[in-house]
Amino acid sequence: MLYRIVMATNNQNKLREAKKILSPLGIDVISQKDAGVHCDPNENGQTFEENAKIKAGAVYDIAKQPVIADDSGLCVDILDGRPGVYSARYAPDGEKCSKLLDEMKDIPDEKRMAYFECCIAFIDENGECHTFSGRCEGKIGYEEKGTNGFGYDPVFVSGDKTLAEMSADEKNKISHRGAAMRELYKYLKESYGE
Ligand code: IMP
Repeated sequence: MLYRIVMATNNQNKLREAKKILSPLGIDVISQKDAGVHCDPNENGQTFEENAKIKAGAVYDIAKQPVIADDSGLCVDILDGRPGVYSARYAPDGEKCSKLLDEMKDIPDEKRMAYFECCIAFIDENGECHTFSGRCEGKIGYEEKGTNGFGYDPVFVSGDKTLAEMSADEKNKISHRGAAMRELYKYLKESYGE
């Protein structure tokens, strides 16, 4: 049985979400800081999977215990998948949505499709890496709506609301990160569950 996984992040939202999903398996998820690991790897991969592996590998090399890392972003069809792996660097927080709305201002409704993608890399106790992905399909709206969530949530429409208009539980059920986490959960349950 696995008892503890280090998460290659200091983001408390990601940590809380992972703890919630993996605690029924008796697995405790701790932050890299609490594991005494200080590193800031260069996320220079071309894909979410490459970046998740880079982050997990950097922490595993120091901690030498099971690690998970995730990488995610928004891909807009009409922008050829941008901002994609550059989602965090596209604009400062607080300006991401307005910059995207500006880029999309002349794009008609039927061409506003987009999706969030998340890849989770899990490095097990033998140093082997396994990856799990999830997607959340939707559209870019015309204005910012809602105050929950973060990043591009206020302009990402799924069904009849934006992700920022949903509760955390509602978003978790349909989100890219929730889907990837559930895949990881299934794998850990099959491999380590009693
Ligand atoms: P990272 O996975 O922490 O590198 O995040 C990449 C960037 O993608 C974040 O800074 C956000 O701007 C964006 N992003 C990833 N997931 C979400 C989400 O669930 N909602 C809104 N924005 C997101």
